Amino acid sequence: MVHAPLLRHNAPNVSHPLLITGCKELLTLRGGVPRRGAAMRNPGLVRDGAVLVRDGNILAVGPRVRVARLPEARKAKKLDLGGRVVLPGLVDSHTHLISSASRAAEYEQRIAGATYEEIARKGGGILSTVRALRRAKPEALKTRALAALLQFAAHGTTTLEAKSGYGLDTKSELATLRLLGELHQEQPLDIHSTFLGAHVVPSEFHGRANAYVDFLIEKMIPRVALSGLAEFCDVYCDRGAFTVAQARRVLTAGRAFGLVPRLHAEQLARTGATRLASELDAASADHLEKINSADIRALAASNVVATLLPGCCFHLGLPHYPPARKLLDAGAVVALATDYNPGTSPTLSLPMVMSLACSQMHMSPAEAIAAATINAAYSLRRHMRAGSIEVGKYADLAIFDVEDYREIPYYFGVNRCVMTIKRGEIIYSRDGI
Ligand code: NIG
Ligand code: FE
Repeated sequence: MVHAPLLRHNAPNVSHPLLITGCKELLTLRGGVPRRGAAMRNPGLVRDGAVLVRDGNILAVGPRVRVARLPEARKAKKLDLGGRVVLPGLVDSHTHLISSASRAAEYEQRIAGATYEEIARKGGGILSTVRALRRAKPEALKTRALAALLQFAAHGTTTLEAKSGYGLDTKSELATLRLLGELHQEQPLDIHSTFLGAHVVPSEFHGRANAYVDFLIEKMIPRVALSGLAEFCDVYCDRGAFTVAQARRVLTAGRAFGLVPRLHAEQLARTGATRLASELDAASADHLEKINSADIRALAASNVVATLLPGCCFHLGLPHYPPARKLLDAGAVVALATDYNPGTSPTLSLPMVMSLACSQMHMSPAEAIAAATINAAYSLRRHMRAGSIEVGKYADLAIFDVEDYREIPYYFGVNRCVMTIKRGEIIYSRDGI
């Protein structure tokens, strides 16, 4: 039995210090940022750990015997987790949070043999979600997004990135970004917004991709940037979407307005988008199913976060997952994200994504956890506040009912997250804890 999650306003816990004990394993993820190579395999584990929280931030963390002895700990409120495994609140660095409906009919078509690209060429796919979003009532979009956010919280996520990109005209793109801003204010999860006006060419510009790129650069990017509603600019640079040359123009224009570049890169075909991400010093290059060894070397030599989205391969039934092992062994900064969207990855469970990363991409459980916390926070430029359990950071915690942290990816497809804490507040709690 799962209680309705308790979601409150974004106010930090300013009431009273809080001492959290009963952390059988506390994975702090402390240390240098971003994580690469061997550092990915050290989760900074503390057995029988404790966290002392004040004003929503971490005041102390370490073994219970030490933290509980601090003067502030003695007078603090107490929360005993009863021997659970505690992670930093999970960070989902790639989502398409706002859409109006599932695409379950396309799912059935794909099961029967149609491919994602065939469906898109016939006007389905992303364009079908664009049509639905443009027709949707704003309240309905908000209700649906709030329901999803409850589920993100219930799976341990405390910070997420969210993209526009299902509006593709100035009015609908701005409305999506405005909704994301409202959601950020009105519920406790931190939402960082990305402008994805270059998702696909909208039907009004059919056959005129360059004209749409001109429109993005001359009209939409200035409006979006001046609205202050987005931090990042993303382009879907792939077969059937935008070319590397078009992506370069969009991201360079965005950057001139202060929007940090991100890229959907090499999901369906190798286009050179990863090299573009390195050239532009993008925050992240996401997907990477089709990268080659030169791309892997370029990523390893850069701070661009290689963000892997194995939920897409799983949902689309594609056999070739991104080469996570090669990226990790080469020393690239690797993150994991859900890519929550109605077309290719309708999951909002980072624990499930970690299971896929371990079973299908040979990441170790410790690597998967680092990828879904500290490295994801780095890709959102939030590593000073989120992604690890360290003094001065937000008291964002994900608590799992398992004996050993490796059981988090091991028990795939069931939600073992029993409590989520955001800035010292319990925002989700399941029965019995
Ligand atoms: O990240 N590939 C582009 N964008 C999404 C899919 C969006 C959709 O199909 O609606 C992705 O996979
Ligand atoms: Fe995506």
